[in-house]
Amino acid sequence: MSTANQPRTVLITGATGGIGGALAAVYAESGTTLILQGRKAARLAELAALCEARGARVLTQVLDLRDQQALANWLAALGEHECLDLVIVNAGVNINIGPDGAGESWPDVEDLLAVNVYAAMATVAAVLPAMRVRAQGQIALISSLAAYFGLPVTPSYCASKAAIKAYGEALRGWLAGEGVRVSVVMPGYVESKMCREMPGPKPFLWSPERAASHIRRALARNQARISFPFPLNFGTWWLAVLPAALSQRILRLLGYGG
Ligand SMILES: NC(=O)c1ccc[n+]([C@@H]2O[C@H](COP(=O)([O-])OP(=O)(O)OC[C@H]3O[C@@H](n4cnc5c(N)ncnc54)[C@H](OP(=O)(O)O)[C@@H]3O)[C@@H](O)[C@H]2O)c1
Repeated sequence: MSTANQPRTVLITGATGGIGGALAAVYAESGTTLILQGRKAARLAELAALCEARGARVLTQVLDLRDQQALANWLAALGEHECLDLVIVNAGVNINIGPDGAGESWPDVEDLLAVNVYAAMATVAAVLPAMRVRAQGQIALISSLAAYFGLPVTPSYCASKAAIKAYGEALRGWLAGEGVRVSVVMPGYVESKMCREMPGPKPFLWSPERAASHIRRALARNQARISFPFPLNFGTWWLAVLPAALSQRILRLLGYGG
């Protein structure tokens, strides 16, 4: 039987990445089915072997999430055989304005929105009806501390993560009485390809393993907002609370000015 602390069937998008891979490992245990999506088939196979060695049953899916029809088809087919206890909407991409501040290219912005916003919301739209019928299930939306206040170096990324934060908060309120739990996860800097490619200082960097264990514990408590690490969460939260002009000045002073 699935419990809050031990979901039996866990779907993770972006499992081939730093945080997604660590989440897969942290949920991999006997009696658990992991459904892992990514684009890199070799990495998915490697991760599946690791999780199977820990006793989990593993299904993998190579899929480009920008293909909305393929995403919908996959989740519809999956829903016929699997009863999803926990869906972690984790896949994401980041772009920035470039070293000389030239700006983001529009095709890159469209790709980013396709993954970070459309695919994330399409995943929820596909898995939610079955959860509502069962009056059971949990959805974790991976946003970012960058959702609190737009960083000049990553405008589209911040916008996409703010969208996911607001979406998750709204879903939680809507579904609270129906038995479907929704959490918004707002990590600070976590070691990964995306993090390495992000410009600017990276204080309080966490390992993906530490982040994944923290997320699992907080999801078991059904925490509404899972934001970490504390010092960066506190600082970025203030950026949203202070007058925007002051927050802009603080960001410039701290080296995030763009
Ligand atoms: N690391 C941080 O500091 C940090 C901080 C705050 C929030 N986050 C969020 O955490 C989540 C995971 O990021 P990460 O740090 O683990 O980054 P990552 O290592 O770069 O992993 C990104 C994942 O997203 C998948 N993905 C990207 N584009 C895709 C596409 N078009 N179709 C299918 N899958 C796609 C990648 O798949 P492939 O590898 O197969 O391409 C990969 O599995 C993201 O939502 C990110 O915004 C990260």
